[in-house]
Amino acid sequence: MTRPLLDVRALARHYRVRPQRSLLGRPLTLKAVSDVSFSVHAGKTLGLVGESGCGKSTTAKLSLGLTTATSGQVRFDGELVSGRRNARWREMRRHMQMVYQDPLSVLDKRLPVLTQVIEPLDIFSVSKAAERRLRAQDMLSEVGLTQSLWNRYPHELSGGQRQRVVLARALILSPRLLVCDEPISALDVSIQAQVINLLQDLQQEHKLGMLFISHDLKVVRQICDEVAVMYLGRIVEQGKPQDLFANPAHPYTRALVSAIPTLSRDKHHQRILLEGDPPNPINMPSGCAFHPRCPQASASCREMIPVLQTVAGGRKVACLHITS
Ligand SMILES: Nc1ncnc2c1ncn2[C@@H]1O[C@H](COP(=O)(O)OP(=O)(O)OP(=O)(O)O)[C@@H](O)[C@H]1O
Ligand code: SF4
Ligand SMILES: [Mg+2]
Repeated sequence: MTRPLLDVRALARHYRVRPQRSLLGRPLTLKAVSDVSFSVHAGKTLGLVGESGCGKSTTAKLSLGLTTATSGQVRFDGELVSGRRNARWREMRRHMQMVYQDPLSVLDKRLPVLTQVIEPLDIFSVSKAAERRLRAQDMLSEVGLTQSLWNRYPHELSGGQRQRVVLARALILSPRLLVCDEPISALDVSIQAQVINLLQDLQQEHKLGMLFISHDLKVVRQICDEVAVMYLGRIVEQGKPQDLFANPAHPYTRALVSAIPTLSRDKHHQRILLEGDPPNPINMPSGCAFHPRCPQASASCREMIPVLQTVAGGRKVACLHITS
């Protein structure tokens, strides 16, 4: 197997937070990400799913060195990505770009979009000014924005057009890795498919490795080569999307998949409603963090943290009651 583009090993990110409504109380530890490992290969997409607050965006930021890990390592093409904003990190960041949920949070409302696509080339002094302009124009065409839109300001474009500008800006430096954090969830349903198709075309064209975060499991199944399910900061299941969604092994994945009726082949399938309190990363349950809500929990689940291990068919699962 070739060397992965992005290789994440035993990554953890803990935050010190003050208890609610108190500035004086002792700070508590919030475990946003714990012991997360995965890799992304060139031209392949790893999907990251899980309910709100499970640590997806923190994992994305850690992967790009945008936030510092408490422990663990990230390597990009074999080289260590440190959390330090030094010259080497900036050079590496050229090759690792991020696409966020809300294009308006990234784009400058005072500048025409063509200027904003030229900007990364200016920052890295790539070729001469005239060539930069031509390159940016080509990139805007590639993402499907016609010339009449190039000199418009972000607020003069639709949400889908803005996200295309963000993609053009992210791809103008020919990155090798694209981290997409909910890239379509702020868009109108009618244009989500267009942006997804565009992402797939661009990925093929540029042989991009992609970390793709989404709440939309149908899109994840459609575009990802592999999917990792997170629960309270840990990956609890990982595998090929078709297998994983058709036959989820971890009780949490089963509940997640059951919430999307059209993903189930069984017409009589029922949604699994999780009982118990919503997860709180400040007050982690002992043992398996899912045990207070798990229909299969036993006494040992309250004591032992299950390790993500490979089971039949190459699937990885972290559950004490699923063995290879
Ligand atoms: N800078 C921070 N300081 C303290 N806690 C943080 C910080 N950033 C994130 N967290 C906490 O870490 C946990 C994981 O957050 P994260 O944003 O990674 O979740 P997420 O899976 O991306 O959620 P969503 O689906 O809502 O975007 C949450 O409990 C969040 O409140
Ligand atoms: S380890 Fe126990 S509590 Fe955790 S998912 Fe498996 S059965 Fe449920
Ligand atoms: Mg997030």
